[in-house]
Amino acid sequence: MATSNGTSTLERDRTAARPPSLIDPFQRAITYLRVSVTDRCDFRCVYCMSENMAFLPKADLLTLEELDRLCSAFVAKGVTKLRLTGGEPLVRRGIMTLMSGLSRHLATGALKELTLTTNGSQLTKYASELKSHGVERINVSLDTLDPDKFRAITRWGELDKVLAGIDAAQAAGLRVKINAVALKGVNEDEISGLLEWAHDRGMDLTVIEVMPLGDVDEQRLDQYLPLSMVRARLAERYTLDDIDDSTGGPARYVRVKETGGRLGFITPLTHNFCELCNRVRITCTGTLYMCLGQEDAADLRAPLRASESNDLVNAAIDEAITRKPKGHDFVIDRRHRRPALARHMSVTGG
Ligand SMILES: C[S@@+](CC[C@H](N)C(=O)[O-])C[C@H]1O[C@@H](n2cnc3c(N)ncnc32)[C@H](O)[C@@H]1O
Ligand code: SF4
Repeated sequence: MATSNGTSTLERDRTAARPPSLIDPFQRAITYLRVSVTDRCDFRCVYCMSENMAFLPKADLLTLEELDRLCSAFVAKGVTKLRLTGGEPLVRRGIMTLMSGLSRHLATGALKELTLTTNGSQLTKYASELKSHGVERINVSLDTLDPDKFRAITRWGELDKVLAGIDAAQAAGLRVKINAVALKGVNEDEISGLLEWAHDRGMDLTVIEVMPLGDVDEQRLDQYLPLSMVRARLAERYTLDDIDDSTGGPARYVRVKETGGRLGFITPLTHNFCELCNRVRITCTGTLYMCLGQEDAADLRAPLRASESNDLVNAAIDEAITRKPKGHDFVIDRRHRRPALARHMSVTGG
């Protein structure tokens, strides 16, 4: 591991053996935290943001120190995997200071994985540094390999930059997984091309079904492409062997016999995946969502700011976990054509 903080083997063993202390009412251990470190982004993907997004006032955002305190409180409670997301996590000023600080939990063995989900635009700048802070693998979102389509989907993005970023990440020794949102009439004929490209470069590919989060300019129903259709089409060309690589999340995996690579499907709308859920999310303003598909939440910023000690925030976390629901309520509302949840993915973190 490339982190600098050393700990004794004894200390490491003690932390590693610690039982998870965040157990929800359905006996699920919460070991995975996703944190949105900013709501801002250098892209405006059509399914994620409107072109004229209003961003939150800076004072509402958690500072880097607050983000560190909050993540560390979760790590102390048994979280072993931490994913930074956004918005675009790599456009947050000082992000490497946060990564560097959090890497101390890798060194103690309390944290098994520190990772992030990124649009890839800043990777040429940050890939090596990420690796030096103990990051081993990252998810890069990429829906198409066609530069014009890429521009149309992201509105502001440049494909070349992202591809150079992926090159830099692989050159730095980071394992890369590609996430692609399946969009009806946009990239549906390109999924097999993406698959071959990704697998050829030793990267897994996960296809994501578009989710009804936040009001964006396009109509959800126009974008919605059930992954059952994507899978059926791919199955005409490839042999897809189910593999049991459960991550406790919504992805289901197959091995593609012809390429040897892994392909994941994230289908929150057509399948229930809640029984193994091990995760919670924090927004960039410190709101804890116990379920991506439910409105119930807990404010952790107020207890964080009310006291320098962590007693208040620890109590708020414990209380919130007792409210983690059994499952989600996603629907694309066909009568009213509006999203089932008003908040944007960029605030909750994808
Ligand atoms: C919100 S982004 C944040 C991290 C980073 N900016 C990125 O694009 O990877 C995380 C993931 O959410 C996905 N996403 C955003 N809005 C979505 C939606 N409405 N339905 C499904 N996936 C969505 C993106 O494609 C991306 O893979
Ligand atoms: S999906 Fe990621 S890159 Fe695209 S607008 Fe949302 S936060 Fe930005």
